[in-house]
Amino acid sequence: MPDLRTRYVGLELETPIVVASSGLTETVEKMRLCQEHGAGAVVVKSYAEEEVMRSSPTPRYRILRRRLGGEGSVTFISYEQASKFDIERYAQEVADAKAKLRIKVIPSILCVTDEGWVKAAQLLEEAGADALEINTSCPHGSITFRGKRVEETIFRTVRLIREAVSLPIVVKVSSMLTSPIGVVKEVERIGVQGVTIFNRMTALDVNVHTEEIEMPGGYTGHGGPWAIQYPLRWISQIYPEVKLDIAASGGVSCWEDVVRYILVGATVVQVCTAIFFNGYGFIEELVRGLERHMEEKGYARPEDFRGKVVGKILGMYEIDRRHRFDAKIDPSPTAPCKFACPVKVPVQAFIHYLSKGEFAKALEMIRSVDPFQSVLARVCYHPCEDACTRGDMDEPIAIMALKRFVLEWGERNLPQEVPGPLPRRGRRWPWLGPAPQGSQWLTTWPRRDIGSWYTRPFLYREG
Ligand SMILES: Cc1cc2nc3c(=O)[nH]c(=O)nc-3n(C[C@H](O)[C@H](O)[C@H](O)COP(=O)(O)O)c2cc1C
Repeated sequence: MPDLRTRYVGLELETPIVVASSGLTETVEKMRLCQEHGAGAVVVKSYAEEEVMRSSPTPRYRILRRRLGGEGSVTFISYEQASKFDIERYAQEVADAKAKLRIKVIPSILCVTDEGWVKAAQLLEEAGADALEINTSCPHGSITFRGKRVEETIFRTVRLIREAVSLPIVVKVSSMLTSPIGVVKEVERIGVQGVTIFNRMTALDVNVHTEEIEMPGGYTGHGGPWAIQYPLRWISQIYPEVKLDIAASGGVSCWEDVVRYILVGATVVQVCTAIFFNGYGFIEELVRGLERHMEEKGYARPEDFRGKVVGKILGMYEIDRRHRFDAKIDPSPTAPCKFACPVKVPVQAFIHYLSKGEFAKALEMIRSVDPFQSVLARVCYHPCEDACTRGDMDEPIAIMALKRFVLEWGERNLPQEVPGPLPRRGRRWPWLGPAPQGSQWLTTWPRRDIGSWYTRPFLYREG
């Protein structure tokens, strides 16, 4: 059985999975859930010095759905949330967690004054925190570090806290605020033990009906599946440059994402949105998936594959940008159901005719493209139904059953086509020679676009 224990900023974690968000970790009971489901640490998000950073007039988080053609919908979460506790209460929660739990507890702080940073750091050290995260990345962080000298302000603050406390320090860094590689190298020089790499995209939503901005009063951020790409890239570039530990944050939505982050150099992987979506049990899914994967690959510890793919990433000038293949893009706008169909049955068109009672026309639509009409109407695994947008509201339309209905209607009500004589067209298929005299069509069509080898034997029968 692989051993998931991971050394992170000098601490021994039972697994490399770290739960990180205010809503998921702010109380001892929530931290206990993280521990029970197999997390190695919690980052208690984030104590904010100013009241204005904690309270927002708009919703705390929000799920946005966007549809990408036939690819289904994608979601992400925007948020505006820091801990609701003041520093004394926040530190008390940390102290209680340390007394009652074995999971590593890493408070996260976000202040606006030098005194605030130092006081919070010292109180949390006294409370027994295992390490301290300095939040320079979250939307609230952008308030703290607004202005032109973002990087200098970060370095000054980190230096101040480094001198004030001796517990391990992690700095949360975002590529939106700074250029991460330079910042990470400098904070390592100042003496911190780890960095959390996250892409803080300040999100926005616009209501097209009211033409109002959603969440107008809130700084919104970005989590969920979309958020993985940039941290993945940044970590792969930071990892070879520094010795400190890297926590990845953003977009973990399956165990493969955990493996992905470790392969580019992350020591631990933080998860937030996916737990909001799936519950604390999701931590276990990540842990089991990672374990199974390591077993299959023969890895004993996570460090056996940490950073393994970094050497395979090509630099900008090594990439061959010439086209090696032509993309096949259908120029017509395609409905998701039709896009998903292997033979591109115009689903909307045939259902349109069907709904008007024009069954013959509906049948014609299907027959115009579908060489396997009866098969597709009976045994097809109907990917069209998975793609059906009606499914977003309640149930997808029963496309396959409707198609079968039309075909059976046709079999009962329309005269069946009797093969006629094969038209003389000379040497249409030169490799077959001319069609023999008196031979007959076996089917009313060959489709021109699939007139390939496998249709040949069925095209005519010798008379
Ligand atoms: C509701 C919510 C609250 C969050 N609160 C904080 C916070 O207080 N401090 C912080 O640094 N990050 C905070 N985050 C950001 C997450 O820690 C994480 O970096 C981000 O959501 C991307 O990861 P994910 O895709 O796993 O959610 C919060 C995220 C959410 C969704």
